[in-house]
Amino acid sequence: MLITDNQSSKAAIALEDKYGAHNYHPLPVVLQKGEGVYVWDVEGKKYYDFLSAYSAVNQGHCHPRIVNRLQEQAAKLTLTSRAFYNDQLGIYEKYMSEYFGFDKVLPMNTGAEAVETAIKLCRKYAYEKCGIPEEKATIIVCENNFHGRTTTIISFSNDETARKNFGPYTPGFIKIPYNDVDALEKAIKENDHIAGFLVEPIQGEAGVFVPDEGYLEKAHKICKDNNVLFIADEVQTGIARTGRLLATCGNCDCADKNCSGTPDVKPDMLILGKALSGGAYPVSAVLADDHIMEVIKPGVHGSTFGGNPIAAAVAMEALEVVRDENLAENAFRLGELFRSELNDFIAENELVTLVRGKGLLNAIVIDETEDSDLAWDICVKLKDNGLLAKPTHGNIIRFAPPLVINEEQLMDCVRIIKETISSM
Ligand SMILES: Cc1ncc(COP(=O)(O)O)c(C=O)c1O
Repeated sequence: MLITDNQSSKAAIALEDKYGAHNYHPLPVVLQKGEGVYVWDVEGKKYYDFLSAYSAVNQGHCHPRIVNRLQEQAAKLTLTSRAFYNDQLGIYEKYMSEYFGFDKVLPMNTGAEAVETAIKLCRKYAYEKCGIPEEKATIIVCENNFHGRTTTIISFSNDETARKNFGPYTPGFIKIPYNDVDALEKAIKENDHIAGFLVEPIQGEAGVFVPDEGYLEKAHKICKDNNVLFIADEVQTGIARTGRLLATCGNCDCADKNCSGTPDVKPDMLILGKALSGGAYPVSAVLADDHIMEVIKPGVHGSTFGGNPIAAAVAMEALEVVRDENLAENAFRLGELFRSELNDFIAENELVTLVRGKGLLNAIVIDETEDSDLAWDICVKLKDNGLLAKPTHGNIIRFAPPLVINEEQLMDCVRIIKETISSM
């Protein structure tokens, strides 16, 4: 046995510091156990998790149904590769197609991998179905996007920390401002060979930027009118997080009871990850209809683990939980309550200037410059007071609890947030 159960926080942090690459800057808390909205550190202190592993744990930590399904499948068959069929994948693909309203699914593992897959699919479709000359296909992306960490994806990031010294960068992308349909129209008109528009329905990592009402529909229409594929990256916003099954939510047969409002856009390609497994296993996917997906032929694209039987089984159970426990509805209702409570608080507090978000994907903006340490200091204090959250981009703190949170727990968290900020 290499790992001891009674390792102190200090010792665990020292180990990571010495033996792990320093590619993250975690809050100084070492977690050992999770259940629902709660996590516990190695010293036994209990916290509310207000990050949910960047919106992966929407169904709550260690959801018993998801864990059981994982254990059952792990004891039976874990991995076959796609060299052979397995008895879970087809069932999963049918389930996913019906759940989200697309003809086909391309299974992957991580969010970035699914984004890469969508980019490849978009380019191939452009060459083979739209007559775009070879090597010329261009994809429009938005400023301040976050789509993951691969070489191609960081090539079109404008986060200097994520980009610097990782060149040469992948060409074939044009950046336009987010939430700007005129810029989209102009970019399509002024550039030849636009194949796709890749967009986050809400920019999560950038600081939970919610676009104007109607933005997604207008952007979708512009794409449709110009034969440009509308690619929605719902890795963070998807699976009930924003109070609807999807933030784009073009499929009104879906599980989400709040589906009738705007936006109502069916993307040409939908990218999902994170909460697709409830945080129990890396599972991601690209969904599209046949006329797009049929450009993918044997050998064209793949992954050893993509579509493995554990992933398939776990994802189905995770999506059943979302439906059975009405998580979209809960996120919608408690999100409204959260923003209303914090707006009342902000009216009397000078430190916080803004709360924004949808469903249970929210952020507060601290009245400080982006390079101030105040948001970090607030997060450290929140941790001391029993709530875990993390700054995203300097002066913005994201609040994204598991969607299984109830009203009493949410109000307790609102109390912790108000008391903590008031004490700063
Ligand atoms: C919108 C979006 N796309 C893609 C990713 C990348 O996902 P992963 O970290 O699983 O590669 C993220 C991660 O935060 C994301 O928010």
